[in-house]
Amino acid sequence: MIATTSWSTETHLGSDNREPMINGTASLLRLEGITKVFLTDEIETHALSGIHLEVTKGEFLAISGPSGCGKSTLLAILGLLDSPTEGRYRLNGREVANLDLEERARIRNREVGFIFQSFNLIGDLSVFENVELPLIYRGVKPAERKSRVMDTLEEVQMSHRKKHLPSQLSGGQQQRVAVARALAGDPEILLADEPTGNLDSKNGEIVMELLRKLNEEGTTICMVTHDERYTRSARRIVQLFDGKIVDETTHGETP
Ligand SMILES: Nc1ncnc2c1ncn2[C@@H]1O[C@H](COP(=O)(O)OP(=O)(O)OP(=O)(O)O)[C@@H](O)[C@H]1O
Ligand SMILES: [Mg+2]
Repeated sequence: MIATTSWSTETHLGSDNREPMINGTASLLRLEGITKVFLTDEIETHALSGIHLEVTKGEFLAISGPSGCGKSTLLAILGLLDSPTEGRYRLNGREVANLDLEERARIRNREVGFIFQSFNLIGDLSVFENVELPLIYRGVKPAERKSRVMDTLEEVQMSHRKKHLPSQLSGGQQQRVAVARALAGDPEILLADEPTGNLDSKNGEIVMELLRKLNEEGTTICMVTHDERYTRSARRIVQLFDGKIVDETTHGETP
């Protein structure tokens, strides 16, 4: 059963009168009136206009919409890789605008995992080293790093390529390594930009199965996808058009 709901800014305050609640669940990500304007050669691009979005802990949200409508920009703001031009963003109850650089970096390293649209693997590091890098930043000890890297490479069926460089892999294989890198750190929030975009249906299913498993274990996922087969894994689908949320659809019953 699919129900279409319109965005409502009404929220209820939690018992401590600070945390906004949706259906009794604390919101993990909360965007209010977010606008992003890019300025290049005197051209203004309004990539996002007045975005209101709340994501609760444990949600699996899909973001869909045509090329250029602002999906990657939205993920970059959610993951603290970019800042909005206007609007407020609260992450886990913290006002993001008030965080200093160190706190932003700590959240990016420890709480958020990214799967980028363009992989962003480091060309002169091996598959193993690419997946290991975020764990080094987080101060994970070498023995634990090794076992986590090997476990996640195993999960994406890439352990046999651990010594290869990204340039020696196919697009789909690079994508699977990028997925392993995001998962190795066991993030609370996973932001995935077209994680199945370069994969055939078999490999796409492997990645989606991993994301579903992670979500069942409690990871909150925001995933950009064009593929209708995969939006079905999400409980909620947000449609973007020209930088605005134009539709929101919820699958099944609310928890
Ligand atoms: N750094 C930037 N500087 C200038 N304009 C930008 C920048 N990043 C994105 N844009 C513009 O903002 C708009 C939204 O871009 P974005 O990458 O968010 O789209 P998208 O929905 O992810 O598209 P796609 O499906 O093709 O990946 C586009 O018009 C793009 O050209
Ligand atoms: Mg994009």
